[in-house]
Amino acid sequence: MALDDQPLTDVHATQRKELLAGLLEPPRSINPKFFYDERGSELFADICELDEYYPTRTEINILRQESAAIAEAVGRGCELVEPGAGSCEKVRHLLADLHPSAYLPLDISRDFLLDAAQRLREDFPGLEVRPVVADFSAAFELPPATGRRVLFYPGSTIGNFEPAGALDFLVRAAQLVGKEGGLLIGVDLHKASEVLNAAYNDSEGVTAAFNRNILHHANHLLDADFDPEQFEHVAFYNAPAQRIEMHLESRADQQVNCDGTVLTFAAGERIHTEYSHKYTPEGFAALAAQAGFTARGCWVDDDSLFSVQYFETV
Ligand code: AVI
Repeated sequence: MALDDQPLTDVHATQRKELLAGLLEPPRSINPKFFYDERGSELFADICELDEYYPTRTEINILRQESAAIAEAVGRGCELVEPGAGSCEKVRHLLADLHPSAYLPLDISRDFLLDAAQRLREDFPGLEVRPVVADFSAAFELPPATGRRVLFYPGSTIGNFEPAGALDFLVRAAQLVGKEGGLLIGVDLHKASEVLNAAYNDSEGVTAAFNRNILHHANHLLDADFDPEQFEHVAFYNAPAQRIEMHLESRADQQVNCDGTVLTFAAGERIHTEYSHKYTPEGFAALAAQAGFTARGCWVDDDSLFSVQYFETV
């Protein structure tokens, strides 16, 4: 069933169950997808503009500077599918060189997606834009393909999956594009811990606000009474595991009421909210190979901060 056909009450009941289960089960956690309520999406947009948060501008620069080489590797006339396309901004940097036969942005947020698709049609007359309201993590159907399918997945969102989940995503991607399909993906790179620690602990406190906002969202979904200010933003690079870890740490012994279920936090106790895995180009290619993808291209900025990688199935 498409997400927008599902009764809202079902969606909420499923989300409530998942949220509460994560908060009850030690070690406590909240899935990072709960960051993105309206305020969370605004805060994430602000993060992307921060000096310390290099991934967004670095990826955009790679797409801009390498768009001809990327088009050469990917091949013109493909059907480009972008899961979680949101505002469809990044694809703009590819379109002039890539000339896809069609662009299919996928997103769960219907109105936002349709607006973005319309703006794209206006700015790129002649481009066939076919928005699909769908959640890539659930079952969905695409209209019949109009060319070789290539999945575009920028932003290093793949890093927010744990390795098994990332492999699962890549396997689904390989199935979706089929034989001789492609995957063009943004992957953030392993680097000096200081650079990464600064990117997730910005001096303006935007990432801290983004992290705490997940508790506002939990309050809304669970009829809970978290006081977000009673939780400290904790983010650090776990270099051996090659991942940023984000947590919310209780500032005091406290109790939180979640619609009748009382959660007791000791001072210093943490709720895990996000992993952001970083890869070497070779490490990511090895993971993609497990899903049946062969590396065909890799573009990295001069400071080796971020990569855009292209893979094909055989
Ligand atoms: C969406 N995702 C790729 C971001 C990241 O860098 O892992 C989310 C984020 N979390 C804190 N800052 C940005």
